[in-house]
Amino acid sequence: MDAVIRIEKALTASLDHADSGGPPLLAAAMRHAVFPRGARIRPRLCLAVAAACGDDNPAASDAAAAAIELMHCASLVHDDLPCFDDADTRRGRPSVHHAFGQPLAVLAGDALIVLAFQAIAWGAARSPARLAALILTVAGATGMPSGIAAGQAWESEPRIDLGQYQRAKTGALFAAATVAGAAAAGAEPEPWRELGERLGEAYQVADDIADVLSGASDLGKPTGRDQALARPNAALTMGIDSAMRHLESLAAAAADSIPPCQGAAALRALTLGEARRLLPKDLSQRAA
Ligand code: IPE
Ligand code: IPE
Ligand code: MG
Ligand code: MG
Repeated sequence: MDAVIRIEKALTASLDHADSGGPPLLAAAMRHAVFPRGARIRPRLCLAVAAACGDDNPAASDAAAAAIELMHCASLVHDDLPCFDDADTRRGRPSVHHAFGQPLAVLAGDALIVLAFQAIAWGAARSPARLAALILTVAGATGMPSGIAAGQAWESEPRIDLGQYQRAKTGALFAAATVAGAAAAGAEPEPWRELGERLGEAYQVADDIADVLSGASDLGKPTGRDQALARPNAALTMGIDSAMRHLESLAAAAADSIPPCQGAAALRALTLGEARRLLPKDLSQRAA
């Protein structure tokens, strides 16, 4: 089955579980955060690595992919809140707090984080060793000391290291995607970590360049927020040309880190294509 169809099916099944008799507005806010889809790059990466490792337990890899995307969607709901980036739009629509109010947005993010772990438990229950690895991988990418919560918390510190901030807020979940893809397929996960880490950092540098150079209508979310909120941003810190060179070297390092495997060529194309996708069109042509 096509990866995107597998991902949408797994996400729908998780949301259906959550939406069976509870408060309807919270259920609607959770769905609003997950559908319609964004790029789904993290779960696609997870399934691409699982496929490269043999994908002998598709229920476990679908669960891992869904959990990572649920965690990503939760992070966007919280990131858009007025106390973080105060963004009114996401994926071309009102952000969750804009559509449902702040209390339901906080709760939708919380409930999606919990649902991510439930998805892993439902999907990998029959492989206890893989289940434990998946829980630890997703938790590590989300909490302290170096997951998304840590990354977002660096914004409240008096001094921030740009690389450390980006690795935690974005790189960690990309690394979880590649590591979890391997773990779900019963393969040795560590050789896959570097691909996720480098691609995640590259992806955030590309997002930083787009935040400075794109119009909001191109991205479906507000732009110029990093400068307005004094957020560390690679393009603002090092200049557009250096940020582009940094992005290219991270994307090349990501592609070069792919362990020898059957799907290496497809993974390489996915890696380089995704690092470029977020760039404004003229820069993207230059990078090609
Ligand atoms: C947005 O991620 C946040 C970043 C780390 C740049 P995506 O660009 O993957 O967002 P969606 O899921 O496609 O909306
Ligand atoms: C997003 O960082 C990373 C998260 C942990 C949500 P940004 O704040 O740079 O992402 P966008 O631009 O809002 O998507
Ligand atoms: Mg942010
Ligand atoms: Mg933001």
